[in-house]
Amino acid sequence: EKQGFRHFMAKEIYEQPAVVRTCLEAYLDLDWTPSSNKSPFKLDLPESIYKDLENIQIVACGTSLHAGMIGKYLLEELAQLPTAIQYASEFRYSPPPLTPNTLTIGITQSGETADTLAAVEIEQSRRKDKAPKYHSRLLAVTNRTDSAITRVVDCVIDTHAGMEIGVAATKTFMGQLMAFYFLSLDLAHRRGTITVDRLSEIITGLKVLPSQIEVILETQEKYIQELSHSFLDTHDAIFLGRGINFPIALEGALKLKEISYIHAEGYPSGEMKHGPIALLDAKVPVIAITMPGKVYEKAVSNAQEAKARDSHLYGVVAASDKDAAEIFDKVLPVPDVDELLSPVLTVIPMQLMSYHIAAMRGLDVDQPRNLAKSVTVE
Ligand code: M6R
Repeated sequence: EKQGFRHFMAKEIYEQPAVVRTCLEAYLDLDWTPSSNKSPFKLDLPESIYKDLENIQIVACGTSLHAGMIGKYLLEELAQLPTAIQYASEFRYSPPPLTPNTLTIGITQSGETADTLAAVEIEQSRRKDKAPKYHSRLLAVTNRTDSAITRVVDCVIDTHAGMEIGVAATKTFMGQLMAFYFLSLDLAHRRGTITVDRLSEIITGLKVLPSQIEVILETQEKYIQELSHSFLDTHDAIFLGRGINFPIALEGALKLKEISYIHAEGYPSGEMKHGPIALLDAKVPVIAITMPGKVYEKAVSNAQEAKARDSHLYGVVAASDKDAAEIFDKVLPVPDVDELLSPVLTVIPMQLMSYHIAAMRGLDVDQPRNLAKSVTVE
């Protein structure tokens, strides 16, 4: 049931605050304080997952891969664990050399994606051959705890997003992000790579995310709907982001491609001058994510290079960013947030933009051409 929304995708975008709340309740001890002597996390993973852990590798496709890229950033930054990420379709035919004490994580909302399933199965069988030397461990991050992948792995993190009908993944991506926040913080806490003060700061930030997403939905949706009309004749668009927001640029571009059929590319902001800048002119809009944090100035100056090429420049920025109106032609503000948590908010304008552009063009938002919700063939 669409519950009054025109499309399932819109309904699912609006369900994201609830997904975050459900994950917070499921995985966090909400009464935890910095003086508590116990762990704030309730992931319920077997101890064998953590023992002597040295490396992580992630396999996934599409939007799930983008969640994994953010996961890599979090696992390396917070838990100091080297993390590799690969397209499942590439991994399955050229897996990297085995390393001991490695956790393999398959991310798939459906739990049925053929390439992701095959990649995890390959890992399972080649590690079994070499056991016990390699101390294999496999984890699935999925929205379907009854799916095929759950029968291959040792343990599962449920993304608690509820059934997603729209082919474009939105709320399941949100659940995947939550899984990676809790996993990387849990690992950081156990490994002693995070201070209690920083942990408490991030936990406080996580708890306010649902209401911050609601603020974006309440204040930005009408504006983004109006903006969508300027994409009526757009054939190409570029999305830029740096650091933890680079995967959100990729996700913004993927969403636009799949439901509005506009050619779009996501790039790390610093790469633009190495090629794609040649594409820019007044007909190619650039959507840049420039959130406060360690790459803010760099990301802004990369965005300005696009403006110098006459591109119409959209900025996804922090609400407190006083300079944004000078820098960008159109500003899409999100509430101020810790840089590490910012993808949870910056993805919302991306989803709303692609949704409204596709809806404005009269396209079948929930069932885009050539796509299936679950890709069970290779
Ligand atoms: O079920 P999965 O998460 O394994 O699906 C992976 C991709 O097919 C999926 O994310 C696809 O890219 C979506 N349509 C993106 O919106």
